Amino acid sequence: MSLNIADLSSATKSALAAIASAKDLNQLKVVKTEHLGDKSDLSKASQSLGKLAAEEKAEFGKIVGAAKSEVVAAFDSRLRVLETERDERVLVEERVDITLPSSKQPKGGLHPLTILTNEISDLFIGLGYRVAEGPELEAEWLNFDALNIPADHPARTMQDTFFIEPLDSKLVLRTHTSPVQIRTMLENKPPIYVICPGRTYRADELDATHTPVFSQVEGLVIDRGITMADLKGTLDYFAQSIFGPDVKTRLRPSFFPFTEPSAEVDFFFNGRWIEWGGCGMVNPKVLEVCGIDTKEFSGFAFGMGLERTLMVRHGITDMHDIVEGDIRFTRSFGTGGR
Ligand code: PHE
Repeated sequence: MSLNIADLSSATKSALAAIASAKDLNQLKVVKTEHLGDKSDLSKASQSLGKLAAEEKAEFGKIVGAAKSEVVAAFDSRLRVLETERDERVLVEERVDITLPSSKQPKGGLHPLTILTNEISDLFIGLGYRVAEGPELEAEWLNFDALNIPADHPARTMQDTFFIEPLDSKLVLRTHTSPVQIRTMLENKPPIYVICPGRTYRADELDATHTPVFSQVEGLVIDRGITMADLKGTLDYFAQSIFGPDVKTRLRPSFFPFTEPSAEVDFFFNGRWIEWGGCGMVNPKVLEVCGIDTKEFSGFAFGMGLERTLMVRHGITDMHDIVEGDIRFTRSFGTGGR
């Protein structure tokens, strides 16, 4: 725009009119770009001053400057008005009624199996045991070979064990917590007193009494002069702490490759004998694999299913209730949200 006083005053007027009619801050922002931005008539007028001779520059400079300050002043005062309006509106619109009733967020809670695991861990910690853990994806050697379970043992077959591809990875989903025994004995010198709770896997269908992902708790003691009587006494104490002070246990002869002699442990509860788990004196072959002197040390081990323990203690008849995570089930244990 060449400098023309009439054009300048009409540009000023239309800028002032636009500012006055901007209804909110967004509109005002658009008006600002249009009438005060680099490409606005007013800015172009300022830019064209440079081309004028010195005297003209001084004269027109004053006029353009005055026009610009008038528009800027109008803009600033409109901005303050619109900002005040907005602040007042926000105070009303975004008012929080703290007297309204809220929808309560239920607190999370521990699963009954976790509660039982903690209870058992605490119980054995009280007896001077340590809690040991191992990976669920386990070396085949630790899950089987080191436990004296030979390659042709039925427990290894495809039906029971989840093998991990590629098969020569020599990894399995652990089928029991017993590999934690081996890990513990390889890493620690006796005396050893550990309890190993954890998740285990077998290729079973989920039904009322089975689940392919289940939990066990393993106990292992290696010390001087440990006998079957120590095992029996420990199992009695364990059973009585979990099921009640009058509960009795019995051992029935059995076989496990990693214990010798081996036994099944049952407990008498609500008028009947209930199978609980396996146990025995740690097989000297297993101690030797772990570099433990069998002339000096002996030990016992036991392992039981935690789901089964929970089911018996609480009269749960369907495994689905334990694995499906319905909070109506966990609530009855006093956790899982109210
Ligand atoms: N690991 C055995 C099982 O899963 C249980 C067991 C543990 C038996 C320790 C004896 C000693 O069946």
